[in-house]
Amino acid sequence: SPLIFHSPPMAPFVDELPPLPVIGGSRLDIDAVSATHRFHRDFAPAPTLAYSGMDYLGPTIEAQRGAPTTVRFVNRITTHPLASDMDMSLSHVTGSDRTDPPTSFHMHGGATPPDSDGNPMQLSRRGQGNVHHFPNSQEAAHLWYHDHAMGITRLNVYAGLAGTYLLRDEFDTGRADNPLGLPAGEFELPMVLQEKIFTADGRQSGRSTPIVPQGGWEGGAVGDVGLVNGVVWPQLTVARGLYRLRLINAASFSVWHLFFSNRMCFWVIGTDGGLLDAPVPTTSLRLTPAERVDILVDFGALAPGTTVELRNDERPPFQAAILGEVAMPLFCRFRVGHARGFTGGVPTRLRGGPRLPAPLPPVERPHQVRNLTISQPYELRDPPAIMTLNNLRYSDPQIEMPRQGATEVWNLINITPDPHPIHIHLVMFRVLGRRPLRTVDYQLAHPQPPVGIKWTPSPEGFYAGPLSPPAPWEAGWKDTVRVDGGTVTQIVVRFPTADELGFDPDATFSAAPTIGPPTPAPSAVNPMAPMAGMHDMTGHATTDRLQGYVWHCHLLDHEDHDMMLRYRTIA
Ligand code: C2O
Ligand code: CU
Repeated sequence: SPLIFHSPPMAPFVDELPPLPVIGGSRLDIDAVSATHRFHRDFAPAPTLAYSGMDYLGPTIEAQRGAPTTVRFVNRITTHPLASDMDMSLSHVTGSDRTDPPTSFHMHGGATPPDSDGNPMQLSRRGQGNVHHFPNSQEAAHLWYHDHAMGITRLNVYAGLAGTYLLRDEFDTGRADNPLGLPAGEFELPMVLQEKIFTADGRQSGRSTPIVPQGGWEGGAVGDVGLVNGVVWPQLTVARGLYRLRLINAASFSVWHLFFSNRMCFWVIGTDGGLLDAPVPTTSLRLTPAERVDILVDFGALAPGTTVELRNDERPPFQAAILGEVAMPLFCRFRVGHARGFTGGVPTRLRGGPRLPAPLPPVERPHQVRNLTISQPYELRDPPAIMTLNNLRYSDPQIEMPRQGATEVWNLINITPDPHPIHIHLVMFRVLGRRPLRTVDYQLAHPQPPVGIKWTPSPEGFYAGPLSPPAPWEAGWKDTVRVDGGTVTQIVVRFPTADELGFDPDATFSAAPTIGPPTPAPSAVNPMAPMAGMHDMTGHATTDRLQGYVWHCHLLDHEDHDMMLRYRTIA
């Protein structure tokens, strides 16, 4: 379609899939930097952002359960390949210009003290930073870290600020002698999957459609090229045997339906929050932005010389689909070599027994059912559309305040026709299922007020069918759930106590960075005025202290505009 920007032609499988370097230890220095990176053999290095020593993305951080990691993070970005001065969410107060973009370092999926969590308003500009303490006391899991700065997350992450964080324990050791018999070492591959659009000369573009003026909010940067670990359509020669692939959807926007080109069976062994109880065989799965999935793939069953592609056939949601954009179909190719690889088979059991975290209480008797809405109201402003949770903006004070120790059912009521991946900081939860909703009747019965007035009517009486259980491969611990369009997606979540966490999740902390010079006074070029419109729970304007966590849509363009709310857990 001529209405869609396209990347220039790029030959697939000409670059090798690069392994991501691994770092570890109790103290790490991680900077956000400006860099240049070659995404494809035939194109010159393009401007990017990156973490610490990399020229795109960040190194894989490995940590041991029970051994805390301290990250000293500093923003050393000198120029941003994508930032603009557009007014987005609170970017009019946080700033998003090209030479001094704000950053915030967040560990996605981490049970992290509030001052270390990478709050979107705890911003570092050039030369500034924060010390982040990650207790690593949760279950072994495939976490990831990425930028979370208010109003510019979509541009910072797309430009390169994301990395993998593998939390290990005595079962999931990452070594060949692990007691579960999982492939390890060279047979365990973290794969950061992304989508991208490139300009004619191979630079990153965040633009997918010309109908939105340059600098405007498009609602989503849809890619037509697939990247793995920062390389366009790479190829990897694999040994004959079982591999453990640790996939992450690190895209800004697209939901993918992933499968192998030969339609072979593979086994899901883990989700966002760690290993499943037993492997689940499947031939495909859906993965939304921020979700991780841990799979076993048996290349030993294929003859040497065979090639297998990791593919997608799901079209992107929203305007790209309306304009006729087709699915971005390809990520990478595996080529089966002659070498013999990992010789073990698919285990029958994974975790279980005494290691299982205390099961959640029966969901028939949760402490509270909370109704939360996901909608796309229109307003007479530029841009006219806004994405909201509960019909509120980030700065609105009517936030959720679950009790520490409470188990709650959250009804995530999506009245839009498209999926939104909803992520809650601090906690891991379980998906109960999805129930179709008669969205028109629901809205006619409860007209949606202007944005800023909390709107969370009960869905009771408006269901169009029964609850469908989650797919077997999303039945494990999750921190992000796909909330399909026109459904009420139900999750059950327990909010941990300070005793269980080993820190106070409701502590107040400074919004100011703790490393580097104080933030300079506001200027016309880089507006950093006090956070007008920010309030604490008592309704007082607050500019210097923050509290609590956030929950949000993980389509990065949505969380920037304005599909993100604060929440606190109270004792
Ligand atoms: Cu992946 Cu609030 O983040
Ligand atoms: Cu969304």
